[in-house]
Amino acid sequence: MCCNIRAVRDWHPAYTRSMLLLGIESSCDETGVALVESHGNALPLLRAHALHSQIAMHQAYGGVVPELASRDHIRRVLPLTETVLAEAGRSLAEIDVVAYTRGPGLAGALLVGAGVACALGAALGKPVLGVHHLEGHLLSPFLSADPPEFPFVALLVSGGHTQLMRVDGVGRYQLLGETIDDAAGEAFDKSAKLMGLPYPGGPWLAKLAEEGNATAFKLPRPLLHSGDLDFSFAGLKTAVLTQAKKLGTALEVNKADLAASTQAAIVEVLLKKSMAALEQTGLKRLVVAGGVGANRSLREQLNAACAKRGVRVHYPELHLCTDNGAMIAMAAAMRLQSGLVEASERYAFDVKPRWPMASLMTPEAPSRVPA
Ligand code: KG4
Ligand code: ZN
Repeated sequence: MCCNIRAVRDWHPAYTRSMLLLGIESSCDETGVALVESHGNALPLLRAHALHSQIAMHQAYGGVVPELASRDHIRRVLPLTETVLAEAGRSLAEIDVVAYTRGPGLAGALLVGAGVACALGAALGKPVLGVHHLEGHLLSPFLSADPPEFPFVALLVSGGHTQLMRVDGVGRYQLLGETIDDAAGEAFDKSAKLMGLPYPGGPWLAKLAEEGNATAFKLPRPLLHSGDLDFSFAGLKTAVLTQAKKLGTALEVNKADLAASTQAAIVEVLLKKSMAALEQTGLKRLVVAGGVGANRSLREQLNAACAKRGVRVHYPELHLCTDNGAMIAMAAAMRLQSGLVEASERYAFDVKPRWPMASLMTPEAPSRVPA
């Protein structure tokens, strides 16, 4: 921990203020609210967080219904705010900055978090800060009991994004490779749907895979030998569909094997490309973030491969892998500490449903490193 405090201090030595930040996440189907406290340039600490998952509500529709998501965020966000304040023993008046997810995500859902954050900020006379959802995921391992130190290679695997990055500090990100079509999370979710598993498919497929034989079906490992660090998962989904059709009524008894084979294909590609990224950069630290980072098989295989190479690997706490308010408050705190941004009293809640992460990368760092 002391090494991390030093590392954080190095980013912006002039920063000394203490701050209590409220973080609000509402980009998709979880309403997350959290309080993070930062003192000077020490690693910010999570004081309380609360989450409401809409999974049960959307399950009947087989996926997220944006209008229902927005309405539910409206219902949940203020009670969750009261919960975290009570849990941390703090009052609204003590909040210094209100952070919210500005994008990417569902426009209506984002507007709820942004609207509430700006209304709270205006009422309290405190500034607000819009946070990039993926930067929240990326920095979420800093909330864990074993936080990383810069620099590291990051494998960012969420529902809509699969990226490998070199991370030298807050805002100092270089894209090493990314998916050219579906994300790994999408591959899990779409394959699960084809197998008739409930939404969200990833965790269900992973659970079923534990009972199956991962070598039962030969599925493609897209771009495994492409020589670059890009991913492609759309073909895998098609291969799963072909296999499911071929099985017909026999799918039911072979479902666990198909799930295990699908998971093995996704994990192998993520594993091999992550190892290649470590080799290419020469870095000895890997950080995994985003919902797919909760996958047990991925963790086991990354742990084993990293141990063999003398690489330290870090994950967010399991309950902070998927969307939550803590990562939004943390990213805001770390951005403010780094001096890259200032919180604003403009209260313009201009959300960005599409917001490429490349726009956060520092101008001196190329947005893409040549292979
Ligand atoms: O990061 P996240 O919560 O939301 C986005 O920002 O997209 O990631 C959600 C994704 C979904 O695709 C979900 O199926 C997947 O993470 N996921 C998993 C597991 N838990 C969540 N995929 C595989 N295994 C899991 N255990
Ligand atoms: Zn997310």
